[in-house]
Amino acid sequence: KKLAVFVSGGGSNFKKIHEGCIGGGSVNGDVVLLVTNKKDCGGAEYARSNGIPVLVFPKPQRESSDALSPTELVDVLREYGVDFVLLAGYLKLIPVELVKAFPKRILNIHPALLPAFGGKGLYGMRVHKAVLASGARYSGPTIHFVDEEYDTGRILAQSAVRVIANDTPEELAKRVLHEEHKLYVEVVAAICEERIIWREDGVPLIQSKD
Ligand code: GRF
Repeated sequence: KKLAVFVSGGGSNFKKIHEGCIGGGSVNGDVVLLVTNKKDCGGAEYARSNGIPVLVFPKPQRESSDALSPTELVDVLREYGVDFVLLAGYLKLIPVELVKAFPKRILNIHPALLPAFGGKGLYGMRVHKAVLASGARYSGPTIHFVDEEYDTGRILAQSAVRVIANDTPEELAKRVLHEEHKLYVEVVAAICEERIIWREDGVPLIQSKD
């Protein structure tokens, strides 16, 4: 399957997914395009040094003369033959045109257990601060399908990370990120092998390999 990954930052999830796709990794997929709103972010640099085409979307206002419209973005993804769009720390709301063009084919990873601790404005370290402030004993990544809002699409996979006494947001973030890497690679392997089944009530499930 052909994958487009969207990032705004360091891109550590993107790197793990890419590593899973190359050289006998566990993912039967190919990252064909990297989309970013920050053209010099770590994820974009990694893509360039690995021969993955980089597309800047949306472009900053001041460079908007040759900016792509949402429909043009969809066209580019189609030209690349993209099967799945993977958001991995992409901090912009993706255009509704894209959501409509790729139904059940866009995933996002969030660094806490949705439906708690999500929504507009809750990203990055703020999420981990909110988890610690709530007194929750567990956190962990959620991978969900993307709809037209922030963090509200159907949950596909989660894993639990224990919150420990005297945790700091930074330490919790680090332990959650470690789980994100494992979970995202497993989930991408599953979607590439078409191991997702949709229950009648709309809940997506991952079928195990055996
Ligand atoms: C991750 O914590 C992810 O859950 C969130 O943004 C962060 C991206 O990290 N959506 P990285 O760029 O993959 O290192």
